[in-house]
Amino acid sequence: MTPAREPIVQVLLPRDWAAGSLVEDVQRGLGSLPLTLPPKWLYDDRGSQLFDAITRLPEYYPTERERSILRTHAHDIVRESGADTLVELGSGTSDKTRTLLDAFTAAGVLERFVPLDVSEATLRDAAAEISAAYPGLQVEAVVGDFTLHLGSLPRGGTRMVAFLGGTIGNLYVEERGAFLGALAYSLAPGDSLLVGTDLVKSADRLVAAYDDAEGVTADFVLNSLRVLNRELGADFDLERFRYVPFWDPSMERMDLRVRSEVPQSVRVPGAGLELELAAGQEIRVEISAKFRPEGIARELRDAGFEVVRTWTDDAGDFALTLARIPAGTDPTPGSP
Ligand code: SAH
Ligand code: TRP
Repeated sequence: MTPAREPIVQVLLPRDWAAGSLVEDVQRGLGSLPLTLPPKWLYDDRGSQLFDAITRLPEYYPTERERSILRTHAHDIVRESGADTLVELGSGTSDKTRTLLDAFTAAGVLERFVPLDVSEATLRDAAAEISAAYPGLQVEAVVGDFTLHLGSLPRGGTRMVAFLGGTIGNLYVEERGAFLGALAYSLAPGDSLLVGTDLVKSADRLVAAYDDAEGVTADFVLNSLRVLNRELGADFDLERFRYVPFWDPSMERMDLRVRSEVPQSVRVPGAGLELELAAGQEIRVEISAKFRPEGIARELRDAGFEVVRTWTDDAGDFALTLARIPAGTDPTPGSP
């Protein structure tokens, strides 16, 4: 048996989180109305653990739906992709990705796995576990931001980029366009993207998925205030805020907010801000856009991808779309 190789871990984020873009993000989001918080700061160690708990909640259907699509179609996905390198953006624990890794391994074609995430501890643990479980696979983890670091992805071979979990829906529509454009630009003809999207469905089921009975999702979203307290010396009192998720039918997205229960002032010294919050005033922490298959196909084509195939689960709750950079697309400057 080939001995397990140590994972390589490349760190593209500054060591000190708060020295990164947090201050600017917070100044932009809390410095004007409507108040918003930047969602990538939800995933500190505690946030990553809470998210992991969300994926196991009975109400949170997306994880199991996406897993069932992967289980049924992983071999087709592997064959259609023709990839020898699997990149995963926002990889987290890479738990579902093992289904893809198993299919790649069975086909004997995979050389490299490149998980990328902002959450360093979660990423390091996942990279070590995957290295141990797949001997012979080179794991090259990247601690990075998929809105900033796509240009630094390892090059060479044929790559498939997996972007699972409906994470693309956490970007605003214009951010999504910029993200897909930057991704297409960083890929070479023949490389592909496998993107998971949660589909539009009844408001009841959507709201239940984001407002679980145990309050794990509330804890996860409110954790963003805890991050600001720790990183920027803010004095948010979590007892005075309530999590309020709702379905926005015109934008077709879940809107995840925290509401100030009382009039209060909050200081955020690290960002030079003093907030005066009225009773009932809300801060949007994150959106989770829901898609229609034709909509995601259009966004992919607009970014320069050709849609190869879309798979859904039996219930039609979730979709996985494989899209490729067509031959004849100008190669990216700097690619071999
Ligand atoms: N892919 C996993 C995890 C989804 S949760 C799944 O399908 O279950 C979203 C993941 O993306 C988290 O691990 C979070 O740390 C990461 N993430 C969020 N914003 C990011 C960003 N801007 N750059 C890189 N990773 C990010
Ligand atoms: N991307 C997933 C989703 O939108 C996971 C997620 C991100 C999430 N932020 C969240 C889940 C906030 C619950 C609450 O569903």
